[in-house]
Amino acid sequence: MYGFGEASRLHIPVLLAEILEYVQPFPGMRCLDATLGLGGHAEGVMRKAKAAGAHDVRLLGLDRDSQALALAAGRLAPFGDAVRASHRAFSDCAGAVAELGWPGLDFILADIGVSSLQLDAPERGFSFREDGPLDMRMDAGHGKNAAALVNEAPVQALRDIIREYGEEPQAGRIARAIEDARARGRIETTRALAAVVERAYPAKWRAASRNHPATRTFQALRMAVNRELDELKEFLRAAPDLLNPGGRVAVISFHSLEDRMVKHFFRDEATGCRCPRHVPRCVCGRAARLKVLTKKPTGPSEAERAANPRARSAKLRVAERIGHA
Ligand SMILES: C[S@@+](CC[C@H](N)C(=O)[O-])C[C@H]1O[C@@H](n2cnc3c(N)ncnc32)[C@H](O)[C@@H]1O
Repeated sequence: MYGFGEASRLHIPVLLAEILEYVQPFPGMRCLDATLGLGGHAEGVMRKAKAAGAHDVRLLGLDRDSQALALAAGRLAPFGDAVRASHRAFSDCAGAVAELGWPGLDFILADIGVSSLQLDAPERGFSFREDGPLDMRMDAGHGKNAAALVNEAPVQALRDIIREYGEEPQAGRIARAIEDARARGRIETTRALAAVVERAYPAKWRAASRNHPATRTFQALRMAVNRELDELKEFLRAAPDLLNPGGRVAVISFHSLEDRMVKHFFRDEATGCRCPRHVPRCVCGRAARLKVLTKKPTGPSEAERAANPRARSAKLRVAERIGHA
């Protein structure tokens, strides 16, 4: 367990300067940080608002990790009532905003994925760097954990999860190795699973791999346990309706499947009429709702990559609400 000071010292928000370029504070601005984590981005937004002299700027932070919320509360305490936090999944962001009675939002941020707090705590079971229970739930204690998935899912389902979410070429071998191992006894710890995966990996691949052979499998299981792609899909679907005209939504992703989902969603929402060319007048009635502000995703600078290796795969995409709310 971290103390608050230690957590905020260890924690470096990813792409902070790049995000803040898209934040243009004005009085009464309403912001949502859908992944509050340790409050690093939220603090940056509120500081920028304060420095710009914009009064009555408010921010709602969501996280499904109550440990993160408790730590963020300490960091964000200097902003008093201007910052609220709620323990819930970001797929329910519309519900959270409605509860506050806010008519709309001017800035939404989602920095999706796992936090350093989660990765670095062996008892949360996200990493095999140290041994811990095979858990991986962001909302600790709620829903099925990774041990249930690894020990009880049909081998086909495991293979598909590892192949799709982990983009792991050896998914079939790994799933079969898990099946063999669990026939001898339940796999209960992160190190035990990592050892099974390592043994399943062909020696030639093991030698050529930059990362530990279990890295992709752990990522895949984490995404499945936390329904990460479903969460993102529901969040994206809700975001345009929540934004005021001119409001912006910024998403940082760390996985190619997630970045692709954001890219396609933004592109789709930036496309108006879908009628075939030969139709003289629009009959579909579709109007574009978003304008894409990042033609290509923004990644970390060389300096950030060097200072924070976890930022390396980060991709930021931003879009702006157009039209009338
Ligand atoms: C990368 S961290 C965010 C760090 C944060 N931007 C900061 O500056 O401290 C991601 C956070 O999102 C949370 N999270 C991930 N998926 C979520 C979801 N579907 N709903 C709510 N919170 C989620 C995780 O629990 C984690 O705390």
